[in-house]
Amino acid sequence: MERLQKVLAHCGVASRRKSEELIIQGRVSVNGKVVTELGVKVSANDHLEVDGVPVYQEQPVYYLLYKPRGVISAVSDDKGRKVVTDYFPGVPERIFPVGRLDYDTSGILLMTNDGEFSNLLTHPSHEVPKVYIAKIKGTPLKQQLKALDEGVVIEGRKTAPAISKLKSVDMQKGTAIVELTIHEGRNHQVKKMFEAIGFPVLKLKREQIGHLTLQGLNSGDYRELPKKEVSQLIVDAKGFKTGRKRVRETR
Ligand code: URA
Repeated sequence: MERLQKVLAHCGVASRRKSEELIIQGRVSVNGKVVTELGVKVSANDHLEVDGVPVYQEQPVYYLLYKPRGVISAVSDDKGRKVVTDYFPGVPERIFPVGRLDYDTSGILLMTNDGEFSNLLTHPSHEVPKVYIAKIKGTPLKQQLKALDEGVVIEGRKTAPAISKLKSVDMQKGTAIVELTIHEGRNHQVKKMFEAIGFPVLKLKREQIGHLTLQGLNSGDYRELPKKEVSQLIVDAKGFKTGRKRVRETR
């Protein structure tokens, strides 16, 4: 459910402010009833009219994109760089990325036109576990990675418990591959966490969000998420609200 003025604005009726005015002026109806209060919330199934003209409400859609490196997690870019919505030329809904991956990070990115779903999944108190594979400069000992699990201070705040796994070490090149599971979504979090323990990230990929993986997709591909998978994500996100410790139980 979203506030009526927000939905009207999203549907392109008018700006949010102007939509508020339309509501106050008694020009908006929801399921045949005129609404003049600003607090009313509606869903995609409600029938909306402005001045007696039906408002077309997009049905919510959900996609999983295998974001390639070198693409911006946005719907447009003023410098003309490639953005994630460029991968959905045939999708008429106004979709946007749920959270973001850095320009040079590849991997799973969810796309939707459902603001409530996006807010739920990116809200700091119930972010589902996300699994990253990082190629780092240096060859850490397991003990050095332990600091990541216990939390490191980035920008003055300690990160929540995480799970790191040393996957391989290339002694000749002086690099290592580490899997890191976190359930926060702070800006450049994974890179900053590795930076904090002295191992800069050379390459980063997000391999999993909750139960979702990149299986069957090549870079640049996407698939629509069926209702069942969307519901599972919502259940996961709500479940994680209660405790950060639960991140350990998923591995
Ligand atoms: N952490 C990062 O540092 N970058 C990303 O793109 C995602 C998580």
